[in-house]
Amino acid sequence: MRKLSVFSVLVAGPVVALTFLAAPGFSAELPTGASMADGKALFLENKCDKCHSVTSKGVEAAKPDKAVDLSTVSGDADFLAKFLKKEATKAVDGKDVKHKKKWGGSDEDLSAIIGWLKG
Ligand code: HEC
Repeated sequence: MRKLSVFSVLVAGPVVALTFLAAPGFSAELPTGASMADGKALFLENKCDKCHSVTSKGVEAAKPDKAVDLSTVSGDADFLAKFLKKEATKAVDGKDVKHKKKWGGSDEDLSAIIGWLKG
C-alpha cells in the first residue's frame, strides 16, 4: 500500500496538475472569431487558392502566377461580393474586368470569406 501512495503523489499528482494547467492554454489556441476560421476554410473549400495566395494569412496559391495575392484587398465588402458574383467590374490595368470565376455559393459563405480576407 505504501508503494501505491508514493506512486499517486509522484505520478498522478503532477498529471492532474498538468491537466488543469493545460486546459486554459488549449482553449486560448481556439479561434476567437468563428467567422474568421470559417472564412479561411471556405476560401480553401472553394478553391480560391487555386489562383490566389493570401501570404499575410499563410495561404499559398497552387498556381501563384494566375492571380494577385489577396493580402491587401481594396474595395468595400459589398463591392467585392458583387465583383465575385460577376455583378460588378473592377479596373485592372486600365480595363474593367469581371472576376475570372463566378461565385456559386451562398451570400453568407461569400461574406464570411470577404470578412476573413479583410479582417
Ligand atoms: C481561375 C483563377 C481564379 C480563381 C479560382 C479565383 N480568382 Fe479571384 N481573381 C482572379 C484574377 C485573375 C483576378 C484579377 C481580376 C480579374 O482578372 O478577374 C482576381 C481578383 C480577385 C479579387 C480582387 C483583388 C484585387 O485586389 O483587385 C478578389 C477579392 C478575389 N479575386 C477573390 C477570390 C475569391 C474569394 C475566390 C474564391 C471564391 C477567387 N477569387 C477565385 C482569378 C481567380
